[in-house]
Amino acid sequence: MSTPPALFQPLQLRELTLKNRVVVSPMCQYSADHGVPNDWHLVHLGRFALGGAGLVFAEATAVEPEGRISAADTGLYNDEQQASFTRIVRFLKEQGAATAVQLAHAGRKASTRAPWLGGGPASAEQARNGETWTPRAPSALPFTEGFPVPRELTKADLAEIKASFVASAARALAADFDVLEVHAAHGYLLTQFLSPISNQRTDEYGGDREARMRWPLELIQEVRAAWPAARPLFVRISAVDGTEGGWSLEDSVAFGHELKALGVDAIDCSSGGVTPSIATIPDPKQHGYQVPFAQRIKREVGIPTMTVGRITDPELANAIVQGGSADLVALARPLLDDPNWALHAREVLWPEGLGDSAYPRQVGYAVKALKRAPR
Ligand SMILES: Cc1cc2nc3c(=O)[nH]c(=O)nc-3n(C[C@H](O)[C@H](O)[C@H](O)COP(=O)(O)O)c2cc1C
Repeated sequence: MSTPPALFQPLQLRELTLKNRVVVSPMCQYSADHGVPNDWHLVHLGRFALGGAGLVFAEATAVEPEGRISAADTGLYNDEQQASFTRIVRFLKEQGAATAVQLAHAGRKASTRAPWLGGGPASAEQARNGETWTPRAPSALPFTEGFPVPRELTKADLAEIKASFVASAARALAADFDVLEVHAAHGYLLTQFLSPISNQRTDEYGGDREARMRWPLELIQEVRAAWPAARPLFVRISAVDGTEGGWSLEDSVAFGHELKALGVDAIDCSSGGVTPSIATIPDPKQHGYQVPFAQRIKREVGIPTMTVGRITDPELANAIVQGGSADLVALARPLLDDPNWALHAREVLWPEGLGDSAYPRQVGYAVKALKRAPR
């Protein structure tokens, strides 16, 4: 069989071998009950594993109830949540996918409502149902107008949240996820520390870049220590804030060097979210608009990167890996649109490599017959 194209070459990270470079980007479903993933999550994630993706990410999953973006987010802070994730992970692995979970805390962007209900801060009805809370953040600065003013995190709060990340990492291991990702992007809690826009603290965790990076790095160091040496740890960052005077790509390169020194295995390069502004982000309508972030961080830090953002075309995805801009290509909306994207990309890029085994056996034989049928 011919050599696979770059997108379909395996990648080894620590003791994990990914079968290809197609990654299901984390996608909040706003469909959990008290943080517990359910059959929706099993089917939503399961169809991507059936569809041939190499690594399937479960959504931003809170390390404590207050860290949820909305009351319907998943969590990994109790036994019931862990048991439900264990079942999902087992199924994904049975389909040949590697599995990942993104551990998150929303900080000042917590206590919101689902996008299909209009997004933004939680509604009066949610408040009546007890589905709201006062968020905590590095500084008492709301995300934007209309959002609640968060309470400034104390030193005791910081220690507690750090411990919650470590405890959730232990639960992720018990659920048997292969990869753990710390969510330090999109304006959630860790970004709120990194960015001067949201961090105006006067203690050792605020001030210059080194001080703003301090708490996220302490946290990631503890998570790395709690996560087995055999399993990879990713960090998703917003490579730029989107806001003038905010976190820049130079800052991300500096952060990347620190992450590498802590034993982080890949940097997942997204952007934006600390404010509603997208002033410093390339046009999100452009295909692969965030690739230059992954490319620069990979080149200057010397660490594997993952890119994401409007990558719909298999040829583009393959060129990104082949050209050395990123090691992994994550997709969110294109996979919602076509859960079999990876199988279809493989047909386009590597038709001669398409054995029966690419499709699950329950459908592969039938799809093959369909394609062979005379027109
Ligand atoms: C429905 C939906 C939910 C998302 N939830 C998350 C999330 O939980 N964590 C995260 O880091 N990004 C989240 N994102 C962002 C995606 O992971 C991805 O970075 C973004 O959609 C750009 O990729 P795309 O153009 O392939 O959709 C979400 C995106 C969508 C569409």
